[in-house]
Amino acid sequence: MSEPIVRHYGPKAYSDHPPFKYPDYKSTIKRSPTHDPIKVVATLTETTGPGPAWAEITPEDADLTTNAGTGSPAIGERIIVTGRVLDENGNGVPDTIVEVWQANACGRYVHWRETAFPAPLDPNFIGVGQCKTDAEGNYRFLTIKPGAYPWGNHPNAWRPPHIHFSILGPALVTRLVTQMYFEGDPLLFQDPMYNSVPPHARERLVARYDHDVTEENWALGWRFDIVLRGPNGNVEEMEEE
Ligand SMILES: [Fe+2]
Repeated sequence: MSEPIVRHYGPKAYSDHPPFKYPDYKSTIKRSPTHDPIKVVATLTETTGPGPAWAEITPEDADLTTNAGTGSPAIGERIIVTGRVLDENGNGVPDTIVEVWQANACGRYVHWRETAFPAPLDPNFIGVGQCKTDAEGNYRFLTIKPGAYPWGNHPNAWRPPHIHFSILGPALVTRLVTQMYFEGDPLLFQDPMYNSVPPHARERLVARYDHDVTEENWALGWRFDIVLRGPNGNVEEMEEE
């Protein structure tokens, strides 16, 4: 049996992340810790990763327009979302699992608790996907552009269209859960999750339109690179209601 690979990672750059308590985002008032964190010494379990063995991933899992398995495509504006997963030294992270979840084109999630927003479900869209990065750290999804949806945080509150991401990285301590927004979106100004991120780091959450990724007569292309930890790391976002 081969020896596990042990890597060392620098501390999280907390100045780039949202505070645990951000009163404009109401849920953080009750959720945020009221005691100092307890330091836990990292052991082999944290500094080695689960590796790709965590999932049996197929190419079909990266196509959210068809992975409902109904034989009919999802309704909505077809988009390609691609980018690289990089470590804090700028090196591509190969064979890491990238998972996404999102609302459908109408802004509705497939979830039994979501009943307040009277938008239709799409039987051909389940809103989840996964893939593995290639040798250079590239990932790629085909999906539909998610719609905005209302929520109860403040009067007339709407979440900007976004895609949730989870990236496992090469070790458990490098797992990143974040959200991707779309360049130029008019709803960003009133979104407390986006605004809770320090201004200098917000643009790391925004995908850029990329005409080289766009495929003629097929799909628009968006590029979203993800950096795990370090001074240019993507920002970890808080869970939604
Ligand atoms: Fe969401």
